[in-house]
This record gives sequence, C-alpha cells and structure tokens, in this order.
Amino acid sequence: METYRLDRGWKFHPGDIEAKVTTHTEAYMAAKAGGAPGGASPNFDISDCLDVNLPHDWAVYNDFDERFGPALGYKARGKGWYFKKFLLDEADRDKELYIIFGGVSSHCVVYLNGSEVYRNFGGYNSFVVNITDMALYGSAVNSLAVFADASVGEGWWYEGAGIYRHVDLCKFNKTHIKPWGVFALPEKKSADVWEVTAKTTLIGNGRIRLKSYILDENDNVVGKEESEHDICRETEITQKMLTYSPYLWDVDEVHLYRLVSELYIGDELFDSRTVRFGFRTIDIDPEKGFFLNGRPLKLYGTCNHQDHAGVGVAVPDSVNEYRIKLLKEMGSNAYRCSHGNVDEQILDLCDEYGLLVMDEIRSFSTSPNGLLQARDMVLRDRNHPSIVMYSVLNEEPLQGSFTGQKLAKRLADEIRALDNSRFITAAMDGGYLEEDGAVFAVDIAGLNYNTANYDKFHEQFPKKPMISSETDSAFQTRGVYKTDFDKHIIDCYDSEAAPWGNTYRDGFKQVDTRDYVMGMFVWTGFDYRGEPTPFDYPSISTQFGIMDTCGFKKDAFYLNKAFFSKEPVIHLLPHWNHNEGDKVKVMLYTNCTEAELFLNGKSLGKKNVDKYDMCQWEVEFEPGELKAVGIKDGAQYTDIQKTALAPAKLVLEPVKTYFAEGTDDAAAVNVSLSDENGVFVPDCNELVRFCTEGCEIIGVGNGDPNSHEADKADYRRLFNGRCQAIVKRTEGEKALLHAECMGLHATVEFELIKDCSIKYIPSVYEKHITTWRKYIYVTDSMPDPASVIADCDMNTWELTSAAGLDAMFNGAVGYGQYRTSASVTRGDKAVVFKKITGDEVFIYINGTLAFSGECSSGRKVSIPLDDVSGDVQISVIFHTVVPDHPAGLDGPAFIQ
Ligand code: GAL
Repeated sequence: METYRLDRGWKFHPGDIEAKVTTHTEAYMAAKAGGAPGGASPNFDISDCLDVNLPHDWAVYNDFDERFGPALGYKARGKGWYFKKFLLDEADRDKELYIIFGGVSSHCVVYLNGSEVYRNFGGYNSFVVNITDMALYGSAVNSLAVFADASVGEGWWYEGAGIYRHVDLCKFNKTHIKPWGVFALPEKKSADVWEVTAKTTLIGNGRIRLKSYILDENDNVVGKEESEHDICRETEITQKMLTYSPYLWDVDEVHLYRLVSELYIGDELFDSRTVRFGFRTIDIDPEKGFFLNGRPLKLYGTCNHQDHAGVGVAVPDSVNEYRIKLLKEMGSNAYRCSHGNVDEQILDLCDEYGLLVMDEIRSFSTSPNGLLQARDMVLRDRNHPSIVMYSVLNEEPLQGSFTGQKLAKRLADEIRALDNSRFITAAMDGGYLEEDGAVFAVDIAGLNYNTANYDKFHEQFPKKPMISSETDSAFQTRGVYKTDFDKHIIDCYDSEAAPWGNTYRDGFKQVDTRDYVMGMFVWTGFDYRGEPTPFDYPSISTQFGIMDTCGFKKDAFYLNKAFFSKEPVIHLLPHWNHNEGDKVKVMLYTNCTEAELFLNGKSLGKKNVDKYDMCQWEVEFEPGELKAVGIKDGAQYTDIQKTALAPAKLVLEPVKTYFAEGTDDAAAVNVSLSDENGVFVPDCNELVRFCTEGCEIIGVGNGDPNSHEADKADYRRLFNGRCQAIVKRTEGEKALLHAECMGLHATVEFELIKDCSIKYIPSVYEKHITTWRKYIYVTDSMPDPASVIADCDMNTWELTSAAGLDAMFNGAVGYGQYRTSASVTRGDKAVVFKKITGDEVFIYINGTLAFSGECSSGRKVSIPLDDVSGDVQISVIFHTVVPDHPAGLDGPAFIQ
C-alpha cells in the first residue's frame, strides 16, 4: 500500500454552484456517468476559485454576525465546493484506489470525473471512498470535487465548515487488505500469557498467505502467525498468536506494540499494513468503579469539542498535540470526545500520552446512515488502546423511553459486533431512573450533571456501573478576578456554574466521595466557540473551559490539577497588580494540607486546606510579593505572585521549536509581556503585530470570549496579557515569526528538520476539456464546422471524453468531426491539444478556421485565444486520406 496526502493545492468556491440543466442535451448529459453538471463537472471553471490547503474551515474566516446565533458562535456556515485536479500514474491502472476523508463538515457529496462516488451524512465520522472505477491515468486529469453542505447542523456548538481534516489517497494492489481492515485484539490468558487475535479483512479472490506478527517497541517479533486461505471478494481471516509478559499500556507508562499484516500470493508481497495497539485490561464494577490492568483507577477527564483559536475546527496536528499535552500536564487521565467521532490523530495522541477515551457517535439514529457512522467509528478506532468505552448518545430526549432503549441497543449491538472489547455507555441528563430507558442497553450509565441523583441512581440500580459523563459546567474568564455580568466576564475563584452543574470544587467532591462513581469528565477542558452560556451576543465562545480557546491556563487548571494529580500543586491567585488599598480575595488552589500566606515577607496567617474547598484570605493590596507556602507530607511548596512593573519585554513562546520540513507543519506561538524582572504583565490588552519569513500566519486568538477580532489576521490584542499566533511553514531558507507590541520587538526562529514521512499529490491547474461530441458518421465531404446540433440529438452526435485515437476514424477514409464548447476567461492564452493525429486536421474556433495542417504522426497544436472569451465553440475535423491511417484526439486538450 502506498499512502499519499491529498491536502495541498485545492481550489475552493464559497457557496453553492448552480447546475444549469435546461436543454435536452444538458439534461441527457447530467443523467450520465461522468456527466454531473455544475461544480461536479470536470469542465467547471475553477480559475476564479480560492487557493486553499487542507485542513480548511471556511466558517472561521467569516465575521461574527448576530444573525447566525449563539450555537454556531455567530459565524455563517453555508455551502461550498472544493476542487482538486491531479494525475495518477499509468501503473495505477492495476491498483485499487481509495480516498480516506478524515472529516467534512457537515454533509457532503464527493465526485470524481463527473460522477458521484460517495455521499456522507455526518460531519464527524471519517469515511473511505473507493475511486477506482472513475479514476483516469497517465496524462488524463482527475477532477475531484467535494460539495460540502454546512447549512446542516448536527450540534449546538461551533461545528466549522468544509474539509476540515486530512485527506489521504491510498493505492493498493487489487488483492489487498481492506482500509481499516485490521483489528488487533489482545486478551490476557494468564499472569504472563496474552493471546492476540488478529482479524484481517482481505479483498480479492484466490489463494493467499497471510503473515501477521507483533513487534515490540524495539522491533523484536513477540508473536506471529502465518496461514493460507482461499479468499473470495471480501473475507475476514482470524489468526491468534501468543505473546509473553508484554509491557502493559497504562496511563502513567505507555507501551505501544504494532501488528504487521502481510498479504502474499505465492512469494510475492501484495499488501502490508501496520496498526498500533497496546496490552491492557479494563474492568468495571458497580461498587468499585473502573479498573485498569487490575488496579482501581478513577477517571479524571475532560469533555472537549474540537475547535481552537484562529483555525476553527481545522486544527493542525501540532496544535492538537499541544492541547493533549496540556490536559496530561493537568493530571487528567481521560478524554471524552464530545459529541462526535474525533480526528484520529487525537486518539493517536491519547494512546501516546496515556489518556482513557470515551469515543462517541454523533447521531442517535439507527437509520442506515446512523448505523454506518457507528461502524465507521469502530472500524477506524478499535485498535487504540486508549479507548475504553463507546458512547451511543448524549442527552437525548428519548433517553428515558423504550424507543430510546431500542435505539441504544441496536447501536450498541452494531458496535459490539465489530468490537466487543470496550464498554458501551450513554451520557444521560435524565431518564436514567426509567426501567424502560436507554440505560439498560448499555454497560455503564453516564450521568451528565445531576449529582443530587447519584445516590438515588445507585440505590435503585446497584448493579449498574456509573460514571459522571459530564461534570461541572463551571464558568471562568481567564485573568478575571471580579465578575461583571454586564461585561460578560466571570471571576476565576470558582464562584459560578451553570444551574444544572457544579463548581469545579463541588463537582469533584461529589465524584471523589463516591467509590461507585468510576470517574468524571469535566465540561470542558478548553473553551470552544459557540454556546456562550450564560451569556449571548456579543459573547462568542464558552467560558466553561479549564483553559481558554488558545489553551491558556485559567486558574481552574491548577484547581483541577490539585484534584487530579498526585504531584504537589500550589497555585496562588489572583495576580498581584491591583490598586493600593484594594481588598483582594486571595485563594490557594493546592493539594497541600496546610498553607501560610505572606505579603512582602509578613505572615497573613496559616490555614488548614480543605481538600475540596481549598482556602482563602482577604488581603489589603500593597505592591510587592505575595507568597504562599504549603505543606504536603511534611515537605514545603511555594507559589509567588509579584507585582509586575511596566512592560519591558515581549515574550514569544512557541509550543514547538521546529518545523518538520517537507510537511505542512504548524506551530502555536504564545505571546505575552514581562517587566524588567521577567514578571508576567497580567493586565495588558495592547495590540501585537506579526510578520513572518518562511512561514505564514494561519490564525490568531487571545481566548477572550467577547472578542470580535478576526481569526485570520497578522495582528491581535493581548487579552489579560496573552495572545497567540499559529504559524505554518511555507518555504525559504529560514522560518521566523516577528512580533511587535508597544514598541517592543521579539522574534522566534524555528529549526527546520527534514521529514520525508508524508508524500503529497501535487495539483494540476490547466483547464482540461473533457467532454466532446463526436459525429458518428465519416463523411465524404468537408462538414460544416458551424452546423447546429439539434438539442434533441443525442445519437448522431455521440457524447465522448475523446481520449485516445478514435476507433471509428482509424483507417476510414473521409471526414470525422468533434465538437465541444469551453469556457474561456480573461487571462487564458491558448487552447492546447497535447497530441492530435490525422492526415489533415482542421480546427475551428467559433466557426473560424484557427488551424489546419498535417498531423499524421501525432502533433501538439496550440491555438492562441486572442480576443475570445466566454463560451467558445471548438470544432475539430479529421480528414483521413490514406486508408488505415490513424486519427483522433489522442492526448488531452486544455485551455492554458
Ligand atoms: C450539556 C451538553 C453539552 C453542553 C453542556 C453545557 O447539557 O451535553 O453539550 O451543552 O451541557 O453545560
């Protein structure tokens, strides 16, 4: 198998494209394979479309506009078309070709060379499109068009719009391993012995040999199996292999193994696939909760949507990694993919960083499409050791009904049929006490909020394991220490939560004090666009996040870390820049048991720290140094807040310091100001301007839930001292980001590290003329190049794609003719026939002879397009003089 990335060189048309189907000819053509009209047609002129690379979210480019409502973060979505023209090798004729779309928001139709090849009805599931039959090879251009309809809403949060995840093209031999067709299922058989069941789905016919082996982290083979089979069309092969004492995958210590599957016919290797997996056991108990590798482990996780500042849902891989690392740094060990199947890269990261995942489908539906989405999720995701449960619903009005139970059961069955090694859950905000409800179709009851009902649920259903699938919905605005509802800002003292939720402290207490609650998923790890609860316009994002939309830590980060982590945590708030004489509420978020506070060296008292409530003081402000000293297990830990002086330095902190050269690598750069002593300036909201060399800014943000500044810009205000630019590598000797704020300058230079791991498919930009009409008779006399083709005549003027020498003209003495029309725009210079063959060839443009000549051994012909534009009629007449001489358009024709 060869995999290529199709992310580069797309053209994008915002809005729908009207397909003109009026005449008989147009209707006839539109009904044919290869004849899809409008944007789906290979002839659609894309020269005025915008140049884009993937991942791409067009909604994030739009201005904030109240008309589009709070759920979507006040950004228009709508519809759009994407186009990619590319070539395939001649050798690909023998291949089976698939395109794997990571995700398109929301519904989409994929066309190749004028034929629909797939429809997908969901903005979260990845999907695999077999393009083999419509593919063209050699010099014939492939026109891939994707119509994305993001006017369809699937959520009540910002969903973005467009092809917002990666797209890959895979080339397989005809006999091959199906995409997503390998499942490595490790099961512990005794203390040291594990059995790995490899289920491999093969496509093809005949006798094959399948060799599967397990590699450890040092490439040692630690299990293998080889068997021969007769396969027919699609065949699943099960093999079992034993592995002894593998290193376990765990949240604190990750070990990943690989299953390599090799498909042979005779001795020839036809396909191979490598999937990563891990050895670990998971168990649940209604009283004691969750067990990982036999030890009880409370899940401390967060729910997350997928968008990030500046880029919307088109989040670069490195930014996803930055986010996952932050969650891990907070001590969390779990991640809920709310509310839909995530980018697979997030699951790779959860595998690598050690987070337990609740994978979730978007659509609570057992329609063919609903079931397909569930299957797509499981087939793609089932090798990730991080995934421990699949969620089949989130807060569905039918959750407490028998109908809800039937839906949940069918979805659960669909999932279990493909992967019975994870638990099934449902995230419910009601109906969980109903005997007839969905909760009885799942292994784990997920309760969203409703902490007051935990005990009631457990008493009523003592055998049903349960988890807090959504906890808290507390509000904080980063860097704010005085709530002002008029300004839509909320302090960071953990004082406010949604009426259905809890403060972080109370939410944690409710879970921590109950062994039977197997864990929690805080709503949310990061702020996200849309759903600006408890506010509305002009607020554009949530304030639920433990971090803001840029990943800047709110104080809640340390509060939750104090809960989640075994490491000592001590965090003093607020910052220490206030007005002389102000009475300031000071809190300590810590897992120390005692703490003492000092202002400029003077003790303000010692306190015992309540494990849940933490501790607080009221302090009259004086500039200087506020210090907290905490005690945990006899050791001392300190945190200090110092009064910042005037800004003296602009600080740029790239979250990664290099670009993987040869890829579309990107990096977030965090921006702040410090004073002459290096103290962070917490209250500055000045403008930062950026410029780049060898990279481009693909988004800016500052985490302000009320900011209407553009996401796509080379400037951004600091918000409470911080902002962020996301830069992507372009080309050149160096890659630099320069920033300026208040006359202060700073530059970050990225190291360039060669990386050949990703191969990209380049785009072709000529306008190919792919549809021709051919007169089916060879005539004795020269035909009239301007004769009118009757609209009803689909038969004497055959529709053809005219690639290759013409079977009918070959050898027949007389005149044969082709017609077409092509749209010519200003800037187009010529019609080019790459190769045209015939004893005599006459080419007419709009009825005027533009070329005549001898082409008997094949010739390139280029006709200048001076003074013509619009729909141009092209007639090509072949005159075969010598019997048996070839004739035809045997190379592509295009407008240049
Ligand atoms: C839940 C819901 C989430 C989000 C949250 C806000 O009810 O599942 O998607 O809306 O409330 O508190």
